[in-house]
Amino acid sequence: MYLEHLSLTDFRSYAQVDLKLGPGVTVLVGSNGIGKTNLMEAIGYLATLSSHRVSTDAPLLRFGAERAMIRAKLVRGEQSTVLELEINAGRANRGRINRSNPVRARDILGICQTVLFAPEDLVLVKGDPSNRRRFLDELLVSLVPRHAATRSDYDRVLKQRNALLKSSRAGKFTAGHEATLDVWDQHMARAGAELLHARLELVERLRPHLNSAYAQLTDGSKEAGAVYRSTIQGVLDDDGGPAEYRTEPSPSVDDLRLLSVDELTERYIQAFAASRKKELERGISLVGPHRDELELTLGQAPAKGYASHGETWSMCLSLRLASYYVMLDDARTGGTAPILILDDVFAELDVQRRRKLAAIVAGAEQVLVTAAVDADIPEELAGRRVTVVPGGIDGEG
Ligand SMILES: Nc1ncnc2c1ncn2[C@@H]1O[C@H](COP(=O)(O)OP(=O)(O)OP(=O)(O)O)[C@@H](O)[C@H]1O
Ligand SMILES: [Mg+2]
Repeated sequence: MYLEHLSLTDFRSYAQVDLKLGPGVTVLVGSNGIGKTNLMEAIGYLATLSSHRVSTDAPLLRFGAERAMIRAKLVRGEQSTVLELEINAGRANRGRINRSNPVRARDILGICQTVLFAPEDLVLVKGDPSNRRRFLDELLVSLVPRHAATRSDYDRVLKQRNALLKSSRAGKFTAGHEATLDVWDQHMARAGAELLHARLELVERLRPHLNSAYAQLTDGSKEAGAVYRSTIQGVLDDDGGPAEYRTEPSPSVDDLRLLSVDELTERYIQAFAASRKKELERGISLVGPHRDELELTLGQAPAKGYASHGETWSMCLSLRLASYYVMLDDARTGGTAPILILDDVFAELDVQRRRKLAAIVAGAEQVLVTAAVDADIPEELAGRRVTVVPGGIDGEG
């Protein structure tokens, strides 16, 4: 798929901007702080309903504005779709598809598919486990949009369950509380099992692509791996470190992968029972996909804490490339390629990896690349050049 047109109103630094795009490579060049990332962030937001830079919507609204609009015309095969997203300061965001009646923002998920590479990706390796869970869940939702509801169901139950555990910590835990906790356990086990089942399958699909992308980007001397660690296997410490305690011999992740959603639900119920005492003491939910980890490895060692700076970068790029390949392979999209966005990544790479990455992405249906200086863009990415100037795009509007 490709974006043919992007228009922003009161988004970040833009009062109004219009950008015409087409298939193939487009390179956006402009000085630091001019608004290149703001454009890429808007496209990414349309795809995931979240920003790769901030965790709340407020910074996306232009200073003083009450709402921002992102409009895009998306072409997929013979079909074109107009997507609109209204980001509101104090109330729910809304979407519109082909100028029909407004829908919940969530209903536009899965229509615009992107893979965004950015300097912030370093946290995928170096950051805490929440970054890797988010990586998995965003990809999951792009592939299977109904999992946005799975996620929000899970988050809602988790919040309620945590509130109850917190109150029990104050020493006022009655039989009534216990019964309510049993009910939350059931809900959380079900939603958690659906999420876990989907993540485990996704990791299986990512793994071969991760390793081959890493080999393509480097000289291939190390194997890049990813192993999912579930809290069903034992509670992890706050950094996603090794299991703190186990109730019985823990199942391997390969065993978990063979279980159905019903069977995983049952495992969660058991794990909640085994950790209840500890959860009541700590006043927080210790078991569930919100505490799981995706462990990344290079050769024998974990990537986090061991990989060099260059290796860390290659791993991050490989994770994004692997997402791209998984999306390409996906039956639901029927081989439609997601839009590749490379925000400022070439400046971070040495010449060798620049050229390798460029050669890999050059053939994608649409590639949007930003750079502060032209010289950072490898020759392999010869394409249309767009100059970003204060408040807009040179020669368009
Ligand atoms: N909510 C906002 N309202 C108004 N201006 C904003 C808002 N958020 C960010 N900006 C401005 O947008 C500019 C940053 O734009 P952006 O990050 O897109 O730059 P860039 O071209 O990608 O720069 P670099 O090359 O340094 O990455 C900053 O000058 C910042 O002050
Ligand atoms: Mg930028």
